Amino acid sequence: MNILHVCANPKSTEESVSKQLAARFFGKLMELNPDVELSNVDLYQEKPPYYTNDLYRRMWNPVFDEAYEPSKAEDAAANYANKQADLFKAADVLVLTMPMWNFSTPGVMKAWMDQALSPGLVFELTEDGPKPLHNITTLILLVASGGVYKEDDERDGLTRQIRGAFGFVGINDIRIAWADGQNPLINSDCEVRRDMAFEAAEELAEELAEESVSG
Ligand SMILES: Cc1cc2nc3c(=O)[nH]c(=O)nc-3n(C[C@H](O)[C@H](O)[C@H](O)COP(=O)(O)O)c2cc1C
Repeated sequence: MNILHVCANPKSTEESVSKQLAARFFGKLMELNPDVELSNVDLYQEKPPYYTNDLYRRMWNPVFDEAYEPSKAEDAAANYANKQADLFKAADVLVLTMPMWNFSTPGVMKAWMDQALSPGLVFELTEDGPKPLHNITTLILLVASGGVYKEDDERDGLTRQIRGAFGFVGINDIRIAWADGQNPLINSDCEVRRDMAFEAAEELAEELAEESVSG
């Protein structure tokens, strides 16, 4: 199994609940399945560049014009997106680790998605809609938030964004371990909630390990 792990959190693991979820998930997975190949992208070690007009032209002009020839500047602007798309295309499972910030994903995660999820790299646009150019079928989302969110909470822009963006490129099997209610000032049960999410993360690892054995 080839896993791409993309993490958007500036904190150390000791300080970060979402990184602790990732530690539990990968700890359990490695214990169960030594055949895992793991690529780590830490978005605070190497920050994704923001989208530029050169990148826009390099990625989207070929969609509309077969005769399009990129300039050197446009090619250079695509370096980061190409590198991330190569990692994406080598994986069959994607793991995303992040906190909820302002009801959505941290800005670096959104910047990474804007780059990696480019036409011609991980999907192509056809008359029948977007067609995947990668092999990822499962996305594991490991997230922590201060507030408590019920399923389909209309304030939650995070899981909605992830489902929308990755569903568009053909990844609809999205499994979530979410440590919500992590603000101790408003949730006296934050530790119970964290422990439940740790268990959920380990169960996701067990599920994945079982599936990789049964093929
Ligand atoms: C900039 C910022 C924005 C935040 N926005 C939200 C939010 O919209 N909703 C929420 O429930 N918690 C919010 N929080 C709280 C974090 O989601 C919470 O502290 C979470 O445990 C962080 O995960 P971590 O421990 O992995 O860093 C915010 C925290 C920060 C720093």
